[in-house]
Amino acid sequence: MPVVLVIVAILLAGIVALTVITKRGTASVGALSRETKSRDKHADSKTPGSDLESIETVAARERSDETRDQAGVVVPRDAGTIEQWTPLDAEELSVSRRMFFNRAILMVGLVGVLPPFGLSLLAFLWPSGVGGFGSKVTTKRSEAEKSWEKKEPFYVPEARSYLVNYPAEALAAGEKEYSADASWVGMQEGVVALYQKCVHLGCRVPWCASAQWFECPCHGSKYNRVGEKRDGPAPRGLDRWPVVISGDDITIDTSGAAINGPAIGIDTTKQAAEGPSCV
Ligand code: FES
Repeated sequence: MPVVLVIVAILLAGIVALTVITKRGTASVGALSRETKSRDKHADSKTPGSDLESIETVAARERSDETRDQAGVVVPRDAGTIEQWTPLDAEELSVSRRMFFNRAILMVGLVGVLPPFGLSLLAFLWPSGVGGFGSKVTTKRSEAEKSWEKKEPFYVPEARSYLVNYPAEALAAGEKEYSADASWVGMQEGVVALYQKCVHLGCRVPWCASAQWFECPCHGSKYNRVGEKRDGPAPRGLDRWPVVISGDDITIDTSGAAINGPAIGIDTTKQAAEGPSCV
């Protein structure tokens, strides 16, 4: 998901930058700058040979100024030689307005894209597996046992898993099927951590209190209380996680790959459905 956000943010930034560059490029093609227009306007108002005249005029004025300075005379300048302020014409004004909007679009683009881009990058680079799913999740056995007494699995949302009680009387049968995999350590202490994801097509499998089984609403796969497949299209029992039990703490390790559920036909608890099905 963070990768998708990063890609979307990069695409948005690219679109905004491309739009601004295209508009600025279009605006500048064939357009004269304000300074050029101003120079042209003044050049048009002069007659041929006026450059020479103005050079002579300036030299004469400088001589005159020197004479006046020496005499201490203050004479106001000829108003006709002072360049008059002229307001911007409509075209110059529209260029300024366009520049303003281009810069505004650029700013909005930067403000709108950079923060989400930065956050996405941060989320992408942030080390995963610190708390929650994808890491080790610790919960209390005493809390789980309260659920088991009510004949319900104990749901651990951070681990996206159910903690169920593996019955002591099934251990002999269980050893034949599970002793080779990592879930056996917890099973010997009466604990199985079942991943909530259906092994058929990935739906979340809820607990059916009436049947006392896990029953998938998507295509009807059913699993007994310890996650062994009993019915439906699922190719095996529910996957599970390794657990470590220390005192009252049960740590579910979801940092690696889930342990594959038991093969079809494995039924170590012989638990039949205890009531009507939910699907
Ligand atoms: S996803 Fe559960 S039975 Fe198909």
